[in-house]
Amino acid sequence: MGEIDRYFDAALSLVKSAGNLISEHVDGCKIFERKSCDIDLVTEIDKKVEETLIGGLSKEFPDHKFIGEESVAGGAKCELTDAPTWIIDPVDGTLNFVHGFPHSCISLGLAINKECVAGIIYNPILKQLFTAKKGQGAFLNDRRIHVSDITELRNALVAFEVGTSRDEERCKVVFENFKRIVTKGHGLRALGSAALNMAMVAMGGADANFEFGIHAWDIAAGDILVREAGGVCMDPSGKPLDLLSRRVLCASTPQLAQELVETLVQIYPERD
Ligand code: IPD
Repeated sequence: MGEIDRYFDAALSLVKSAGNLISEHVDGCKIFERKSCDIDLVTEIDKKVEETLIGGLSKEFPDHKFIGEESVAGGAKCELTDAPTWIIDPVDGTLNFVHGFPHSCISLGLAINKECVAGIIYNPILKQLFTAKKGQGAFLNDRRIHVSDITELRNALVAFEVGTSRDEERCKVVFENFKRIVTKGHGLRALGSAALNMAMVAMGGADANFEFGIHAWDIAAGDILVREAGGVCMDPSGKPLDLLSRRVLCASTPQLAQELVETLVQIYPERD
């Protein structure tokens, strides 16, 4: 068994048990606090899941580093070095979780030398377990998954999110992109979870996904999942993905990604 397999197995068992904390609230988790704004929420469950994962992984791998959404919100440094780093969104789709819209997941990526080498996206409510390890393919509930073969935007279903900022200038660009995709593409979908949107691309249910303003913890697991499913994941400018840039574009094919690069109005949010 390789090193990545060992790290992955330990993480998977922690993710599965932390998933029970989420599935206990299928009807919604009505007690929450607001973070950066009225639609950026956190619940006790977000905090407990993150504590479970960081506690378990640091016991097993004392040298490993962490970037966790709630730890960073609490003041921890968001620092990505070459050391093995677990990048954690304890509940991606917290707004869904609060409302009882059943698309929330734990998103856990492992980066080594700043490259994502393993990822787990687990929606315990709908029992969807997406997994990927470098060079070993992508899976949904242990069944191999693959991206679609769509190469043109006119045939593409695109997953998209408005995100959590309601800054007026930013919203103008978001709505312009919305209009461009609706006009040129097959359709738009928004699951309310960046990680699950990327998982849809990995399984061929959607053909592309992009977002400006997401964070490393929203996209780390999705990055390796999409690439291992045969797709591409990059910066929306067409440059290589930078996990801390708060920008992502993934697609089933390089041709579709390139068309989106040329179609999208770009936003450059402040880095993580
Ligand atoms: C959010 C979700 C949402 C995306 C936001 C993320 P959270 O993550 O992924 O779909 O649009 O940008 O911040 O706050 O639910 O973990």
